[in-house]
Amino acid sequence: MIIVFSGTGNTLNCAQRLAAMLGNEKVHVLGAADLRNPEGAFLPLRENDRRIIWAFPTYSWGVPPVMVSYINKVKLPERASALEHFMLTTCGDDTGYTDRQWRRLLHRRGLAGKNAFSVIMPNTYVCMKGFDVDSREEAARKLRESDDTLTRIAKVIVSGGNDILVRGSFPWIKTAIVYPWFRRFEMSATPFRTSEACTSCGLCIRSCPMANISAGKDGRPAWGEHCALCLRCYHICPRHAIKYGNKTEGKGQQSLLHAGDLPTE
Ligand SMILES: Cc1cc2nc3c(=O)[nH]c(=O)nc-3n(C[C@H](O)[C@H](O)[C@H](O)COP(=O)(O)O)c2cc1C
Ligand code: SF4
Ligand code: SF4
Repeated sequence: MIIVFSGTGNTLNCAQRLAAMLGNEKVHVLGAADLRNPEGAFLPLRENDRRIIWAFPTYSWGVPPVMVSYINKVKLPERASALEHFMLTTCGDDTGYTDRQWRRLLHRRGLAGKNAFSVIMPNTYVCMKGFDVDSREEAARKLRESDDTLTRIAKVIVSGGNDILVRGSFPWIKTAIVYPWFRRFEMSATPFRTSEACTSCGLCIRSCPMANISAGKDGRPAWGEHCALCLRCYHICPRHAIKYGNKTEGKGQQSLLHAGDLPTE
C-alpha cells in the first residue's frame, strides 16, 4: 500500500511508477477527508498488504505539516506494527533530515521505519524571492533521472539494502531550524489572490486537496484557513491567474497532474 499526499503530482507520479515496479501495489491518495480530519480517518489497509510506503513531498526540509498531523492521528489497525514501513519523499533539490523526522513520527505511533528514499523531481516552490520552477530542460532531466532512482528504490524494497537519500548540505540546520520557522511564518494562505486573468472557471476550487477554496465574489476563489501550501491551485490554474502576494511575479507553473487527475465539475 502506498499512501500518498501530493500537491502538484510529482509524488503521485513517483508513487504510480513505483507501484507498477512492485507489481501493482495499491496507491491510496489522501484527500480533504483524511487530511482535515485525520483523527476520524482509518489507515486504508487491505488484508494482504505487507508494507506501507508513506509518500509525500519535502516541505522546507521536513514532512509537510498535514502529513505530520495525519501520521500522528490516523487510526491504526493493530497489525500496522507488524508491517514494513518505508518513506518515499520527492523534492526539488534535497531533503535535509526529513527521513529522521519521519522515523520519529512513526516511532511515536509504535511503528518502525525500515528504509527512507528521496527522488529529485521538478521544483514547485515559488513563494519566496529566489525560488522559481525549473527550466523545461532541467525539469525533463530530473524526470528522466527519476526513473533510475525509482528502479533502485524498488530493488531495496523487494530485496533489502540501504536508504537512498539526497539530504544536501547542513541537513540539521535546515530541518531543525529552518523547518519550524517556515512552518510558523511562511505557510499561510493569506497572500493568495487572483489577477484580472481569472475567468472564475472554478478549477482551483474543485481541485484543492484540502477543500480550502470556496467561490467568493464573482465566483473567484476565496482561500480559507486549512491551506497545506501544496501550491496545486497556483500551478494548475489554466490562466496563470493566481498570485502569492508579489512573490510570484514573473514566475512559472509546474504540474504533473493530468486532466484525469482533476475533477471536471
Ligand atoms: C511548501 C513547499 C516547500 C518545499 N520545500 C522543499 C525543500 O525543502 N527542499 C526541496 O528540495 N524541495 C522543496 N519543495 C519542492 C517539492 O518538494 C517538490 O517539487 C515535490 O516534488 C513536489 O511534490 P508534489 O508535486 O507531489 O506536491 C517544496 C515545495 C513546496 C510547495
Ligand atoms: S483556476 Fe484560475 S481561472 Fe479558474 S477560478 Fe481558479 S484562479 Fe480563476
Ligand atoms: S489552497 Fe491551494 S495551496 Fe492551499 S491546499 Fe488548496 S490547492 Fe494547496
